Amino acid sequence: MKRFADLAFTPSVVAAQQRYGSREIGRRLEQRPPPTALGDRECDFIAQCESFFIATVGAGGWPYVQHRGGAAGFVRCIGDDTVALPDYRGNRQYLSVGNLDHDGRVALIIVDFAEQQRLKLMGRARHVDAADADPDLIARLGPSVGNALVERYLLIRIESFDWNCPQHIPLRISPEAVAARLQPLNRHIDHLESLLREAGVDVPQRPDTPTPRRP
Ligand SMILES: Cc1cc2nc3c(=O)[nH]c(=O)nc-3n(C[C@H](O)[C@H](O)[C@H](O)COP(=O)(O)O)c2cc1C
Repeated sequence: MKRFADLAFTPSVVAAQQRYGSREIGRRLEQRPPPTALGDRECDFIAQCESFFIATVGAGGWPYVQHRGGAAGFVRCIGDDTVALPDYRGNRQYLSVGNLDHDGRVALIIVDFAEQQRLKLMGRARHVDAADADPDLIARLGPSVGNALVERYLLIRIESFDWNCPQHIPLRISPEAVAARLQPLNRHIDHLESLLREAGVDVPQRPDTPTPRRP
């Protein structure tokens, strides 16, 4: 694997660092030892994610970014330096996969809004038709959500990664986490209401508080 700076600090990036006075910080990043593999921290983070963004490079030179989502575990580390995920049939424009046939380079950003953390990864992707994919790989990535049809699997050999600072990540938590956090409060309200009833108080109907649901 390479340092993130080795891939990202192109001459025009270095020139911008010089112009804006951060070249020294850039130089220190260039001297960090490169990672040798995806570690537990990266793989655990990847395995819990339910969504991320992936950028590919079009033949016209334009970057193209698309969202990918699924149940936690739909994207996983397989081996020291490879990440795998299913690629679902969608609007049949085949933009990401078509771009990969021209240039395998991809950039991913995975954001955990509940923990306010983000991981950037750069790598080279190849795709394998679902019919030709290793059954063990298919089993590891788990079932699709709803009626999504897996057309192929993407295998991304990660060349570098970088953890970003958590600044400016809005705090968002899943419907399940909201429900879990409300549970003790609801139990407490139940208890208080029963005490009131025992004391002869006519307890008014509790307002409806719908549990947040996924669409
Ligand atoms: C019924 C259905 C279910 C889908 N489910 C998912 C899904 O769970 N996760 C996902 O990333 N894309 C899913 N897709 C595909 C996306 O909506 C989208 O079409 C696809 O990512 C387009 O990729 P592209 O822009 O690279 O061509 C689904 C599409 C359909 C039609």
